[in-house]
Amino acid sequence: MRVAFVGKGGSGKTTLSALFSRFVAGHGGPVVAIDADINQHLGMILGVEEPEMPRPLGTHLAEIKSYLRGDNPRIASAEAMVKTTPPGRGSRLLRLDLPTDPIHERFAITTPQGPGLMVTGPFDESDLGVACYHSKVGAVELYLNHLVDGAGEYVVVDMTAGADSFASGLFTRFDLTFLVAEPSRQGVSVYRQYRDYAAEFDVPIAVVGNKVHGEDDVAFLRAHVGDDLLTWFGHSRAVRALEQGRPFALGDLERPNLDALAVLLRHLDGQPKDWARFGRQAVEFHLRNAAAWANRATGQDLATQVDPDFTFGPAALGLQHASVAP
Ligand SMILES: Nc1ncnc2c1ncn2[C@@H]1O[C@H](COP(=O)(O)OP(=O)(O)OP(=O)(O)O)[C@@H](O)[C@H]1O
Ligand SMILES: [Mg+2]
Repeated sequence: MRVAFVGKGGSGKTTLSALFSRFVAGHGGPVVAIDADINQHLGMILGVEEPEMPRPLGTHLAEIKSYLRGDNPRIASAEAMVKTTPPGRGSRLLRLDLPTDPIHERFAITTPQGPGLMVTGPFDESDLGVACYHSKVGAVELYLNHLVDGAGEYVVVDMTAGADSFASGLFTRFDLTFLVAEPSRQGVSVYRQYRDYAAEFDVPIAVVGNKVHGEDDVAFLRAHVGDDLLTWFGHSRAVRALEQGRPFALGDLERPNLDALAVLLRHLDGQPKDWARFGRQAVEFHLRNAAAWANRATGQDLATQVDPDFTFGPAALGLQHASVAP
């Protein structure tokens, strides 16, 4: 199951991604947390010191593409592979129950509290938007497009809200998106935009309140997002310890905040896996990107990369002849 945390700057995406990843790891499932935000803080919050940070995906795009392409005859070269290029027969797929492929081996580390961690590496505004061939977040889209995940396996992505994820289709690669919102007008301001995109593309979202101080704050959130408000986290003293790098165990969290983590997990686990939608939208956004910029950038007709006989999901694993070979 894949979940994204999005929201305004400073709303608590990184904090909640980290807490949720740790909570999920504590429940035994394999979990990979991915830092795909402009400012890269997730590793730090997960207790990883700078020298131990994983290799950034965003600066190894060619290598990642080469591997994922496998011997898919529709993708002429790694250079012809763009962030939206969907897998087809011959592509190499990734799995979390058997993370022995070179992508997980080279780019994921295990953090002290259990979750795996991958990072895009820092990026700036020029890395965002539909026209960027070298988009670092594109690595996450490629990863998710080639990942066949099942129940009880988790990818948690700490994302930027808006621009790139909407344009490329990244926001459609998740089983659920948590929109983190502080109880302020700023905090709820991206809600409408997200809700409208989500509805258009049949993407489930849920609003998670954060830094809530009391009933008035809950009422404010409810007034602005209605039934999309799934749960909320109170302003937490325990989170300070996380931020300051002091020892922090999940059990240090206030009871209502721990309960809120359980609500998030239950809600994620309750989402149906819709591989048909996933495959349809992968193709749709690829064709859209091909027409908008990628055909021009590569000098090829990238629509031919779509394999009409490829079925997304677990069925595709049976087709693979080299799922774990380097
Ligand atoms: N529930 C909470 N209680 C107390 N402090 C919190 C809580 N959630 C987040 N914070 C604090 O708020 C600040 C911003 O949180 P965080 O870095 O997680 O936000 P972000 O959305 O990832 O920000 P950015 O957009 O900069 O990446 C941090 O100092 C964090 O410790
Ligand atoms: Mg952050």
